[in-house]
Amino acid sequence: MINVPRGTQDLLPGETEKWQYVEEKFKALCHTYNYHEIRTPIFEHTELFQRGVGDTTDIVQKEMYTFTDRGERSLTLRPEGTASVVRSFVQHKLFGHPTQPTKLFYIGPMFRYERPQQGRMRQFVQFGVEALGSADPAIDAEVIGLAMNLYQSLGLKSLKLVINSLGDAESRNNHRHALVEHFKPHIHEFCSDCQIRLEKNPLRILDCKKDKDHPAMQTAPSILDYLNDESQAYFAQVKSYLDHMGIDYVVDKKLVRGLDYYNHTAFEIMSDADGFGAITTLSGGGRYNGLVEDLGGPETPGIGFALSVERLLMALDAEKIALPLDQALDGYVVAMGDNAVKKAVEIVYNLRQAGIQVDKDYQGKKFKAQFKAADRLKAKFVIVLGEDELAKQVVSVKDMTTGDQQEIPIDSIATEMKQLIQGGKA
Ligand code: HAM
Repeated sequence: MINVPRGTQDLLPGETEKWQYVEEKFKALCHTYNYHEIRTPIFEHTELFQRGVGDTTDIVQKEMYTFTDRGERSLTLRPEGTASVVRSFVQHKLFGHPTQPTKLFYIGPMFRYERPQQGRMRQFVQFGVEALGSADPAIDAEVIGLAMNLYQSLGLKSLKLVINSLGDAESRNNHRHALVEHFKPHIHEFCSDCQIRLEKNPLRILDCKKDKDHPAMQTAPSILDYLNDESQAYFAQVKSYLDHMGIDYVVDKKLVRGLDYYNHTAFEIMSDADGFGAITTLSGGGRYNGLVEDLGGPETPGIGFALSVERLLMALDAEKIALPLDQALDGYVVAMGDNAVKKAVEIVYNLRQAGIQVDKDYQGKKFKAQFKAADRLKAKFVIVLGEDELAKQVVSVKDMTTGDQQEIPIDSIATEMKQLIQGGKA
């Protein structure tokens, strides 16, 4: 027997309906916020993530599914969506479009070679949005608002929004010097990756999974103490918008995020529900002014976030929220006798053409067993067709909620069933 690869999963009926439900919610919300869908390839040139996500990040150093194709190109299964969206924005010159900012959303699988555990998969599905072309702190608040809005509209309550500012280039540079000074005396106690990071990108030391308990981590200088006036003012404005929107948050000066492209606003939404696993981050995002230029485009600010559906559904489970899924079937046709069984094929086809959701037996089941099947499928109406009914050119329709039964001419079955289903009189 061959099973799914480690860190991946099959989604079976019963589960897929939940995925469809949250997907529709997310799409509807993006529509409300005026974000439009973008679909980019699942694999990209490896260089895109090396340059975009950053070659000292864990994602690029340890987690990418990279392969050489038959044309000797190095390709990578996308570990996240932002780099691809920005690549596409540059490639198709979306910056030249008269409507700015360009507000995009995406839904799709991402791949990271991580150690699997609950809420951490090697293939997971992200919902994400990216707003490109505005450096207005109001759009930071909009993106955060959209993320919170999605969770809240699904009924989640145990949410914690954590924000921080990573500042502009000048602030980051000052912070970088402070980090080097801070970590230098201890660096021989850190992992080999961190030793390289000290020179190349000391901020990445702060999210090293191996060295997270080293005492020097606790006392590391915070970026918030190095923000210049401009960066402080920007952060203050984002917070002020959140206050006005009634969105609660806490500032966590240790939040740095694991990808290199961030500056100014960084945020994560966590679940603090009891019973939610060890990993509590539901989504993360932030501003990435400079990424568009890094990927060959004109100077364009950007901000976005992404969440994984796996963790969203875990949070719903932890808060015992059942999604309002309609799993009942409109109708089930029960037929007895050779001619009726044949006629049933035509009847279900006609009903389905009229958009009515029906099913029938395909296993030669007896009358009683057909009724049982209808029951199991939670059919709202059972449409009975026996030899008697066939002779009269009618079907006998039983409303399974009220027990009411009535005859309907086969000729007008589609229109009359529609009325019945909508609650009208036949
Ligand atoms: P990220 O923090 O790496 O950011 O991932 C965003 C979200 O994806 C996480 O909060 C988590 O819900 C989910 N996620 C990440 N890795 C896994 C995994 N192995 N298994 C399950 N879920 C996972 C980004 O990816 C950025 N592109 C977000 C962004 C968009 N920033 C700006 N725009």
